[in-house]
Amino acid sequence: MDKKSVFNADNRAWQTGHYPLFLGEPLALYDSVHTPYPELFELYKLQKSMDWSEDEVNLEQSRMDLLHCSKNNYDIMVKTLAFQWELDSVASRAIAPLFAPFVSNSELWVMLTKQSEIENLHALTYSEIIRQCLADPKDVFIEVMKNEEVLNRSTIIVEIFNTLQEYGAKYKLGQIERDSEELKSAVLCGFIALYCLEKIEFMSSFACTFALAEQNIFQGIAKLVQKIAQDEQIHVMMDEAVLNILLKSPEWQTLFKANEKKIYEIIHTVIEQEINWNQYLFSENRSIVGLNEKLLNEWVLYNAQDIYHFLGLNNPYPVVEQKPLRWMDNWLDLNKTQNANQEMDNTNYRLNSVLNDVEGELFLL
Ligand SMILES: [Fe+2]
Ligand SMILES: [Fe+2]
Repeated sequence: MDKKSVFNADNRAWQTGHYPLFLGEPLALYDSVHTPYPELFELYKLQKSMDWSEDEVNLEQSRMDLLHCSKNNYDIMVKTLAFQWELDSVASRAIAPLFAPFVSNSELWVMLTKQSEIENLHALTYSEIIRQCLADPKDVFIEVMKNEEVLNRSTIIVEIFNTLQEYGAKYKLGQIERDSEELKSAVLCGFIALYCLEKIEFMSSFACTFALAEQNIFQGIAKLVQKIAQDEQIHVMMDEAVLNILLKSPEWQTLFKANEKKIYEIIHTVIEQEINWNQYLFSENRSIVGLNEKLLNEWVLYNAQDIYHFLGLNNPYPVVEQKPLRWMDNWLDLNKTQNANQEMDNTNYRLNSVLNDVEGELFLL
């Protein structure tokens, strides 16, 4: 079997334990005997413990709210859902398939496939919200497929993912070498685009959903989006863990430097697309109680400055000292939302997390 096989019998990494994340020897066995990056496996387990289901929240009241709310709130909710639905559809088909040709480490593989699976859940959840809550779901299909503003919000991310997809095909067909700098640069930029999507764009869209929910409407939808937001925070941890590992290696650090201009451009374009979106969202007399264009822009810059800092890049934007939208903390942390189970579906739980507090005690049956 050759190196392009789904089982690379020539793989020798099991003898050395040397499994680089990307573009090492193509994999043979799933190897949990040698785990150079246990932190990725831990994140996989964390995400697994937080699995949930798209149908665990009753959406009847949200459906009624959407039928009876003001046109303003309806439009904001539909536009926000349209974007979230589009980008989670992209994420669900992008993460594992896009990076698959290049992955050469088992911990990374199990983490990325889990992340992708959870993106499926997110896309499905948005689709179910739309199916169940909209009198005419066609409104949202049109909003996604025909509204240039929605489509333009993420062209840079989609373009980078498309490029990476082409590189994956070329690599598998043997048209580009494994140690090509060009190939590795495409993988690095692809990962940074994913990081920007999860850290800047999704966080920004959640602010609109939760600002509406702060008015005591769309509570069911907000509960589901809260689960999604919790997952996205784990995904940001995953993205940072991968980038941390890569950037510790001199080879990837050199690649990072060589691509610095492009990386600045990716982050800058994502920020500008968000700022343009915010301008559009609050145009045509649309408004959200407790949120406005200026605050939402600050929220974008606040999240983006973490990315500049994390990557060791100079932030060309004004620094946002104080955390804007403090109320977001209540939504981003499920422990902070009080829940009366007789009034609302409880979504704050973990799977497969049994605490072993009886160690050393012997039970005789
Ligand atoms: Fe997602
Ligand atoms: Fe995600």
